[in-house]
Amino acid sequence: MNIQQIIAKKRDKESLNKEEIKYFVEEYVKGNITDYQAAALVMAIYLNGMTDEETTELTLQMAHSGEILDLSSIGKTVVDKHSTGGVGDKITIVLMPIIASLGIPVAKMSGRGLGFTGGTADKLESIPGYNTVIEMDKFIQNVKKIGISLITQTANLAPADKKLYALRDSIACVESKPLIASSIMSKKIAAGAEKIVLDVTVGNGAFMKTKEDAMEISEMMKNIGNLANRETICVLTNMDEPVGKAVGNTLEIIETIECLKGNMPQDIKTIVLEIGSYIIKLSGNGENIEENKRKILENIENGKAYEKFIELVGNQNGDIEYIKNPDKFPKAKYILPVISEKAGYVEKLDAEKVGVTSVDLGAGRIKKEDSIDYTVGIWLEKKISDKVEKGEILAYIHANGEEKGKQAVEDIKQAYQITANAIKEPEYILGIV
Ligand code: URA
Repeated sequence: MNIQQIIAKKRDKESLNKEEIKYFVEEYVKGNITDYQAAALVMAIYLNGMTDEETTELTLQMAHSGEILDLSSIGKTVVDKHSTGGVGDKITIVLMPIIASLGIPVAKMSGRGLGFTGGTADKLESIPGYNTVIEMDKFIQNVKKIGISLITQTANLAPADKKLYALRDSIACVESKPLIASSIMSKKIAAGAEKIVLDVTVGNGAFMKTKEDAMEISEMMKNIGNLANRETICVLTNMDEPVGKAVGNTLEIIETIECLKGNMPQDIKTIVLEIGSYIIKLSGNGENIEENKRKILENIENGKAYEKFIELVGNQNGDIEYIKNPDKFPKAKYILPVISEKAGYVEKLDAEKVGVTSVDLGAGRIKKEDSIDYTVGIWLEKKISDKVEKGEILAYIHANGEEKGKQAVEDIKQAYQITANAIKEPEYILGIV
């Protein structure tokens, strides 16, 4: 067997067998297959697709390309959560302390931002001192000690996915259903949780632009989960506009703190309640979804979720004074308003454009090795269906350069579409698979 034959098979729309997929993953990780050969195969997969059997095999091979975590010493069912990516998506940071405050263990590894989508690990690192890079035994000890640890993916977790993801990003091959499904599920299987809840984002700020595509990839991931003995539920959420008001690392942490104090925008609240209720259900702590939602609201109202977040930050070396007093966070030099030129209702708020603008301001990376500016971003005062007066503020740009700031004001103005007719509040949950 050689890589040329494997590339030729996929180029000619044939299916790859287990041995061929195993050979490709193993030899690519070892460096015996070059990036240009892997790129040719990935492009052939992007164009010609994969069968369910091929997608499952690719997932399992990537999962086993590094260590598979054993979380059994935690002694309780661990439910993992993962989002397929979006703009302003701080659901993990809001939700997981709530789950931990209910006595359900949280051992979660998150990724960094790539493209126009943000990453949970970057957002957490905007809290001064917060350490996301932690050894596995310390990670498990943290969960045993305080019930929660949020860290970044270790180097040896599904290394094949790390290598392939970076390659896909550099050759415009991210948006492929079998490649996204296998990328996500390989990391989730390697991360050790028995049960998985996936937030499958749908819309202009997500990789899945339509509900049909999101349903299809959800079925794929659910099947892979079942075959790997990991019960998986997918919650389809709306990503036509950014989630919440803040886009950018520090700004999103400030919004998270507000949410945990009970001040949640409607979209965050709806998504947190829905995904959280399924995590509680899969953990074996409550069959009834409505009752689970009530438990979540109770732990926000009684302050237990907020206290758990403080405990999490402190336990990972973060300075909790910033959480207690968010005014302490460093701010961008320029805070510029985006002013509406019309009266009416917000009909569209282009999430991808907001994400790209935040990357242009410095909140994200163009290349993997770029450093990011935690202070910059966008604060959205108006969201879809909100009423707007002429001259009212739509959003604030947080920038560290005057020219960049002015450009962002223009870009965000373009991201809004305002109409004379009243608009219904969007549906935030689009389905459960
Ligand atoms: N998130 C991932 O982890 N992998 C993908 O391919 C896309 C989104």
